[in-house]
Amino acid sequence: MGTISACIFDLDGVVVDTAKYHYIAWKSLANGLGFDFTEEDNERLKGVSRMRSLEILMEIGGVDLDEETQLKLAAKKNEEYLEYILKMTPDEILPGVKIFFEDLKAKGIKIALGSASKNAMTILEQLKLTSYFDAIVDGTHVSKAKPDPEVFLKGAELLGFEPANCVVFEDAEAGVEAAINGGMRCVGIGSPDILNKANFVVPGFEGFTFEKLESGLNK
Ligand code: BG6
Ligand code: MG
Repeated sequence: MGTISACIFDLDGVVVDTAKYHYIAWKSLANGLGFDFTEEDNERLKGVSRMRSLEILMEIGGVDLDEETQLKLAAKKNEEYLEYILKMTPDEILPGVKIFFEDLKAKGIKIALGSASKNAMTILEQLKLTSYFDAIVDGTHVSKAKPDPEVFLKGAELLGFEPANCVVFEDAEAGVEAAINGGMRCVGIGSPDILNKANFVVPGFEGFTFEKLESGLNK
């Protein structure tokens, strides 16, 4: 694999913990439909698109809904989710993320976003992070969900680099697979048990540097 020219970041669970807000909004939807939705259930929605998340939720509750109702409920869930997102502040950026971005900038490494979320721009604006990104690819730009590599390949293309020169940061198994399917190296953010296909895994960005990235990939 080549030298590192760019780092592509997933958003939810990597840059910010939005899973808790997705959880509250999905749970109130499930409760409205008459069944419970636990935090453990919510784990299954990480990295998964909005409509696929609703399908999983319906599976959990054992309910069957027509397409029109599904679209309405997904929109309703998103309205509630947005209420929380619009209250977010830069304090919610996960520890070490901004320092790592600064380190990458200082080393001349390009930064891209590769997220399944259609709310990515809103979230980046709330966190005041938009200007750090040289390219942004989100759920409004792709037609295929992770583990398809489309979102990361588009990011690499926008930056003008080969996949072999890009490193992806991901907290979801499907995201790690998407990076590998795209011919990119991947750093897992979270637990090595779940993200075992990544080149290596770190619990978060606290104390993480470009030097540690290089040495971790060369091991
Ligand atoms: C991913 C999250 O980043 O985005 C998923 O991990 C979420 O949980 C997906 O379902 C789509 O998000 P949104 O904001 O478009 O509903
Ligand atoms: Mg994620």
